[in-house]
Amino acid sequence: MHQDDLIIRKPTKEDNLEKIAELLYNTDPYIYPYWFKTLDNCKKELSPLLLEDKFFFNINNLYISINKDNNDIVGVICIVNKNTDLDYDYSDLKAKNERYCFTIINYIEGLIKEVKESDLAYISNVCVAKKYRGKHIENIMLSYVIEIYKEKLFKSIDLDVLANNPGAIKLYQNLGFEQFTEIFSGFNNPKEEKTASFFDESKIKIV
Ligand SMILES: CC(C)(COP(=O)(O)OP(=O)(O)OC[C@H]1O[C@@H](n2cnc3c(N)ncnc32)[C@H](O)[C@@H]1OP(=O)(O)O)[C@@H](O)C(=O)NCCC(=O)NCCS
Repeated sequence: MHQDDLIIRKPTKEDNLEKIAELLYNTDPYIYPYWFKTLDNCKKELSPLLLEDKFFFNINNLYISINKDNNDIVGVICIVNKNTDLDYDYSDLKAKNERYCFTIINYIEGLIKEVKESDLAYISNVCVAKKYRGKHIENIMLSYVIEIYKEKLFKSIDLDVLANNPGAIKLYQNLGFEQFTEIFSGFNNPKEEKTASFFDESKIKIV
């Protein structure tokens, strides 16, 4: 596919938020199934949160791509940076469900702390709908988002990926990301797989 076949933009409340929640759920094989248990539950619980101001996955931190032919939402990226207002109060969610408390909320709060202390932008989620994979959609989306962040004069963009995800690693390498570390993925990963961290300093430079 080419950029002309897609619309890339931030979502609005009129978009199919359940579809966006589904794509976020499919970003990682461990975190989201652990948090939400089932995809249906994720669609129900996560989609209203996307409209919550300051919530980590709120629509201001997301980009979606839409297939112009049929208006399908085909891909999503979540990218956060220290200029984003991330002071969401997670206490209600924690009180509501113990799962939130010990899993993703701690993880999100850790990410927020790191992002706030640095000059970098962090890509936390990248996903293309299954039937649209391998058509370079994510390459087009990430190139688009990287350009925006270049214009915002960000020094670097970081991301993590499971080291056994060759498709995603190839994608990031094609875009000029370089691996800088590899650690054991601590988060609810039963197979103790490694997570590779990538950055893109070559592309994002202060001019
Ligand atoms: C990773 C993902 C976003 C890639 O989206 P995509 O639009 O299919 O990616 P692209 O087509 O732009 O690029 C994929 C590249 O990886 C290659 N690739 C795909 N699967 C591969 C595999 N198993 N081994 C090696 N390379 C692979 C493709 O050939 C392509 O490289 P090329 O352009 O040199 O041919 C998509 O597969 C996905 O949503 N996966 C599930 C969620 C996920 O893993 N997200 C990343 C977590 S950090």
